[in-house]
Amino acid sequence: MSKLLLNAIKREPVPRRPLWIMRQAGRYLPEYRALRKEHAFKDLASSAELATQVTLLPIERYPLDAAIVFADIMSPLPALGIEFDFAPGPIVANPIASAADVDRLPEPNLDRLAPEVIDALRMTRAALDDDVALLGFCGAPWTLAAYLVEGKGVKDFPTLRAFAHSEPAALDALLAKLSELMAQYLIAQHAAGADAVQIFDSWAGVLSLTSWEAQIRPHLERLLTRVGEAGVPRILFLQNAPHLMEAYASLPCEVLACDWRVDIAALQARHGDTRAVQGNIDPAILLGGADATRAAAERLLDRVSPLGHIVNLGHGILPGTPLASVSALIDVVHAETL
Ligand code: CP3
Repeated sequence: MSKLLLNAIKREPVPRRPLWIMRQAGRYLPEYRALRKEHAFKDLASSAELATQVTLLPIERYPLDAAIVFADIMSPLPALGIEFDFAPGPIVANPIASAADVDRLPEPNLDRLAPEVIDALRMTRAALDDDVALLGFCGAPWTLAAYLVEGKGVKDFPTLRAFAHSEPAALDALLAKLSELMAQYLIAQHAAGADAVQIFDSWAGVLSLTSWEAQIRPHLERLLTRVGEAGVPRILFLQNAPHLMEAYASLPCEVLACDWRVDIAALQARHGDTRAVQGNIDPAILLGGADATRAAAERLLDRVSPLGHIVNLGHGILPGTPLASVSALIDVVHAETL
């Protein structure tokens, strides 16, 4: 059998829509929580063997159509000499505060470009059935810069927004370094067995459209172009940024992945002739149980054409999600015959 996810990316007809879930190898899974009792998150993510084991957990429990390698958007940053920890989100040891800090970043050390992630991709591919796709990923340059400048996740990232306007040249230099490094990282993930890659722009939305166009677009566009030229299928995800949706739709990629705030049926109506779409059930609905999840999933399938639709949530699945909600979502998707 072929990989439904790849058919959907190419907007080819499928017998049913493919489904995967952002953060599918996370704390809602009892077997993940059990592993976390023995190992810190960073230890799980920095061992290729453990990361492979975690990547496969949701695939062993559920008939999902893609595995996503267990890692973090911070994983490749040791290549730029950046040190960080997790509590539970990333905490950067020495946040970037000036142009001099950006200049001091060393030339990328490609030996430290997350070799554990590359190994985990190879090991996962060898263990997966042929009809399950394997996804690689990275953080978008802006979302990575958000942690590097702010030092940690902070509501609306005020230090980052200030930096963008007080040190525009430094931000530009930082984003250029990050885009170049992420292009190499995604191409290496593809070579190691990733069928497609997702670029997570989780904090895209904190800038105005005007600032985004001037400061962010050129870097994201360069990253996407390089990866596309290498023949790697690209899923572009943006979170909490409905005011940027049309700007993102004009970027080079195969799949537009949106959060639950976006009307995905309208997005498909505007761009479905050139882009597949991915999403976008509100992850909070799954906290409301199986009936609420079933209703939301049925509504989604009803509104969105199956051609070029990858079913997913609008952001990561939440830690307290009942397993019955995940089963309900899968049942609805599998019950549809096209
Ligand atoms: O989707 C998957 O199953 C693959 C694994 C994955 C993780 N992080 C593991 C993780 C992926 C794709 C990510 C991406 C990531 N990491 C993003 C982009 C996606 C998004 O959520 O918007 C961002 C912004 C980060 C940074 C990050 N890492 C945060 C904000 C947190 C804490 C939030 C949380 O869920 O607790 C992390 C830690 C992290 N990364 C966890 C996992 C499973 C939780 C670690 C744990 O305590 O077990």
